[in-house]
Amino acid sequence: MGLRRLQVTDLRCLRAVALDIDPRYTLISGPNGSGKTSVLEAIYFLGRGRSFRTHRPARLIRNGCDRFIVFGEVDSARGMVSLGIEVTAERLRARIAGRDATSVAELASQFPVQIIDPDIHQLIELGPGIRRRLIDWGVFHVEPPFLIAWQRYRQALAQRNAALRQQQGAALIAAWDPELLRTGEEIHDARLRYVARLETIAQPMIERLLGMKLELRYRAGWPAELTFDEALRMHATHDRERGVTQVGPHRAELVVRLDGAAARDHVSRGQQKLLASALAIAQLKLLEAQSPEQPTLLLDDPAAELDAPHLAALIREVQALRAQLVVTTLDPDFIALGQPGRRFSLHEGAIGS
Ligand SMILES: Nc1ncnc2c1ncn2[C@@H]1O[C@H](COP(=O)(O)OP(=O)(O)OP(=O)(O)O)[C@@H](O)[C@H]1O
Ligand SMILES: [Mg+2]
Repeated sequence: MGLRRLQVTDLRCLRAVALDIDPRYTLISGPNGSGKTSVLEAIYFLGRGRSFRTHRPARLIRNGCDRFIVFGEVDSARGMVSLGIEVTAERLRARIAGRDATSVAELASQFPVQIIDPDIHQLIELGPGIRRRLIDWGVFHVEPPFLIAWQRYRQALAQRNAALRQQQGAALIAAWDPELLRTGEEIHDARLRYVARLETIAQPMIERLLGMKLELRYRAGWPAELTFDEALRMHATHDRERGVTQVGPHRAELVVRLDGAAARDHVSRGQQKLLASALAIAQLKLLEAQSPEQPTLLLDDPAAELDAPHLAALIREVQALRAQLVVTTLDPDFIALGQPGRRFSLHEGAIGS
């Protein structure tokens, strides 16, 4: 299960790298700048159609080249599937089993992949968008029909916003409301269900890791005392003035609280990292319970910023997963996760001995 083979061409410092990935645990070591995170970026791209380091895929193209290519073979519940990504300055092309993928989401359904990297504290620190994406990835994997509602909502929202920008008449704008309401409520309900389950799994984990009480509160993207329908009608004039739809699931927020206070303001960087990592691990636990797929967890330099007892505690949580692990480390003798099934060392973007 999971990723079996990876080939990367011209991605950042990686010119041509081919790796056989262990079904359980692969360790990649190398000095700073050797390309470790870039290998994880390539793997992540296969399952997400984007990077965890930048919104601009073309940034990943090796300097002086016109494209990067990632190819992977994934052992899924439906058998072995080949996945491919090719990115040029103009476009992204995804292929599944030798044919063009209809969407990036189609890739995601073949290869559930999650990352814990040294920037994961941003999940707590940054604005609501990053937490909405976290929820949506999780919901999509446990309730696949969510994707259809989500895509239709995005379409209806884009059309409604275009009508608002063009200052079309009230009736033309409101014509998009039924679709927006139907799909928006579906998204809202699915996210609420998901956040409740995630909290149940993450709570004991946070208790073990931080000794604190976690609360996850999903805020709908409209005032709690109103239905979406009421909020949309109430905001109609304001929307027309602003030229944009201001209420709906696209404005939702996941509020993360520890011991009754907003996590963002009350815990250290290291604690934020533990908290965000626990949320990511809890998502995988939930996915493992609800789906036949074995997810893949990428751990980029897990030892960064954590003291030894907290690192050990985090690793215990990781080891309780069924997930495939691909881990990077500066230390070639890293043994905190036991003996890897395969190990590679990178040097200046190439595999060494
Ligand atoms: N588009 C690009 N073309 C060529 N090289 C690039 C490009 N983008 C980044 N690099 C280089 O790739 C190298 C590898 O970066 P990467 O972040 O993967 O290293 P790393 O092994 O994870 O390092 P660290 O231990 O510091 O985290 C860096 O030296 C960087 O300058
Ligand atoms: Mg790195």
